[in-house]
Amino acid sequence: MTRSARTPKTTFYCTACGNEQPRWFGHCPACGEWNTASEAPAAGAAKAAAPRRSGPSRWAPGAAGGAAAARPAPLAGVELEAAPRSATGLGEIDRVLGGGIVPGSLVLVGGDPGIGKSTLMLQLAMALGRAGRRVLYVSGEESEHQIRLRATRLGEVPPALLLLCETDLEAVLEAAAAAAPDALVVDSIQTLSRADLEGGPGTVTQVRECGLALLHYAKGSRTPVFLVGHVTKDGAVAGPRVLEHMVDAVLYLEGERYQHYRVLRAAKNRFGSTNELGVFEMLDTGLREVPNPSEAFLSGEEGVAPGVAVVASLEGSRPLLVEVQALVSGSYYGTPQRVTRGFDPRRLAVLLAVLERRVGLKLGRHDVFVSVTGGLTLDDPGTDLGVALAVASSYRSRPLLPRTLALGELSLSGELRRVSRLEARLREAARLGFVRAGIPRVQAADAQGCGLEAVPLGSAREAFEALLGERVAAPAREGAGTGDAPR
Ligand code: TYD
Ligand code: MG
Repeated sequence: MTRSARTPKTTFYCTACGNEQPRWFGHCPACGEWNTASEAPAAGAAKAAAPRRSGPSRWAPGAAGGAAAARPAPLAGVELEAAPRSATGLGEIDRVLGGGIVPGSLVLVGGDPGIGKSTLMLQLAMALGRAGRRVLYVSGEESEHQIRLRATRLGEVPPALLLLCETDLEAVLEAAAAAAPDALVVDSIQTLSRADLEGGPGTVTQVRECGLALLHYAKGSRTPVFLVGHVTKDGAVAGPRVLEHMVDAVLYLEGERYQHYRVLRAAKNRFGSTNELGVFEMLDTGLREVPNPSEAFLSGEEGVAPGVAVVASLEGSRPLLVEVQALVSGSYYGTPQRVTRGFDPRRLAVLLAVLERRVGLKLGRHDVFVSVTGGLTLDDPGTDLGVALAVASSYRSRPLLPRTLALGELSLSGELRRVSRLEARLREAARLGFVRAGIPRVQAADAQGCGLEAVPLGSAREAFEALLGERVAAPAREGAGTGDAPR
């Protein structure tokens, strides 16, 4: 961010993102938060940290170190590493990281409190330990006893797993230097602090400086470091977003706390794609990888109940079949409600407008609720048609045809646009027993040989005609204000 522009005049910083400004501000120009300006800590603290920042290549591994090396060199001359990644033993983490752990990488694992970050990290540490690698697990959150208890639940505790309950950064770095582990886990960055800095653990200065120190440790020793970070209610890693800029990868563990699926996704990854997604189930014995997430996200209600549609969302390289449920119900209030879980409400507003204007569904006086199963969030535009059909299906009390999938992005004119990697999506659906898929007409040729009947469609209206089944009787009290609309 403004690191290079740092001047002695800098006196205020944002407690949400760490952005520094020469004067007080009500509204942070970097992250947009209000009332987050705080006076910078004592100049001594800032100075103490400053010299470490001066050389950008200090932590560059290998040859180019040293002050005399600040000269450009041909990129082609930089040697490629032989084995840059190593598998962790947990396939879903490897997938999200882009194929395994990169030496010297700094990875931030964020998520709401109680979602399972410590569990995941302990399982990772244990898996690495079982593979004969030495891991130092540092916890500032729980006692040795608590961690030992949890580890016992998670499986056999490998001897190569070292535990340190500590919150002082220097002590952690000393222990790491002495133990020279193959990987370091710090749970959590918000509990670490440097004694010579003002402010308690979790403040922007502490988190940033501790993060920087661990970055130096990771790059200098080529040890992969995993940091756990708590997420605030609005989704930011608590304290400074500055951490997100510093680390090589940011992974988020998400899910509904009271449901058992957990999704690990990369919000940033310098070593791979950010689209990959790992799916876990939280059991009594910790997080278990879900090898076949598509099956997990289907309830079997599709084709039976109105308002249920199945979409194939592309998550990284993997198509996932996901169920979307919609409920359209007469509104009691002047402004109808639109409530979504796992789907962007603004995107829903667009789809509702398309349904209203291009298909002729009068949704203006109806509440619309949309929910995506499994705690997933759909942001693949190829899922538009499925969501629109779920809404239309609930509105008309007509279930979708059985074992049928809908794919396509909807334009504002109601036309169906092409989706990426259609074949992969269709194959996954065929594998799970789907027999029919509504697809954009422009892609009709791509669908051949995918193992199910492709129904080429030009528009939302055509999809509506082709894929909705017979109307089912609405349960009780039809037209009494709740529920189901006219035919
Ligand atoms: P935890 O890893 O402590 O969450 P975080 O570090 O993100 O705050 O996980 C806490 C929750 O996970 C807790 O509510 C209990 C549940 N859990 C299980 O269901 N099974 C298990 O085997 C473990 C270890 C935890
Ligand atoms: Mg924890």
